[in-house]
Amino acid sequence: MSDRQAKGTRILYGRRRGKPLRKGQQRLIDSRLPALTIPLDADMLDLPGLFDAPCRTFWLEIGFGSGEHLAWQANANPDIGFIGCEPYINGVATLLGKLEENDAENVRLHNDAAELLIEKLPDASIERSFILFPDPWPKSGHKKRRFVSKENIDTLARVIKPGGELRIGTDHEDYGAWILWHMLQSDKFIWISEKPEDWRERGSDWPPTRYEMKAVEKGLRPVYYRFRRQ
Ligand SMILES: C[S@@+](CC[C@H](N)C(=O)[O-])C[C@H]1O[C@@H](n2cnc3c(N)ncnc32)[C@H](O)[C@@H]1O
Repeated sequence: MSDRQAKGTRILYGRRRGKPLRKGQQRLIDSRLPALTIPLDADMLDLPGLFDAPCRTFWLEIGFGSGEHLAWQANANPDIGFIGCEPYINGVATLLGKLEENDAENVRLHNDAAELLIEKLPDASIERSFILFPDPWPKSGHKKRRFVSKENIDTLARVIKPGGELRIGTDHEDYGAWILWHMLQSDKFIWISEKPEDWRERGSDWPPTRYEMKAVEKGLRPVYYRFRRQ
């Protein structure tokens, strides 16, 4: 049991499943997910030991949704080991389809709240982390459910190595301000921003996600924050 579970803190507020999985999706979950699932039984994770081939470094995506961004990054960076966290099984099934299509071998998965995995990551073990379009929980009574919080920023500061990067995107104005406010409170991260394009534009190594595309179709203008771990 994790520290947070032991304290009785609820971690996950979003849903774990949606529509019944199609046959092909269920086949992927049954045949591929067990071998890719990161076991959390040890006190600390041995990241190199999770992958069949040696990895130059490790990147972590939190709440990958249907996995467009994760699949793209894994394909573009075959020498990097990717850890993807997503509690929503339908999203995991979609990602597995993309990984199969690309023959990607450099992704391992955690089908639950990211917090449970992050607390088992060794200090300074992650070079880059992504939180893309996290649930905004807009009602004022629900804001404490937001993933970006002092506690999670402190934990990410522990696991991201100095010089590493945390990328956070959102289309939600209030959450955008909340993210900046919380991140700027931390003396462990510096906002990489010299000019508006640095956060108004994604950059060529940051592919779009499903939620982002839906937001843009609605006429919203997402923000793309990048923070350097000091
Ligand atoms: C709004 S969706 C965005 C999905 C994807 N990143 C995108 O941009 O299309 C937020 C995602 O975060 C996931 N999520 C919510 N709480 C989480 C947690 N504690 N750990 C990991 N993922 C979480 C949800 O299941 C959902 O898929």
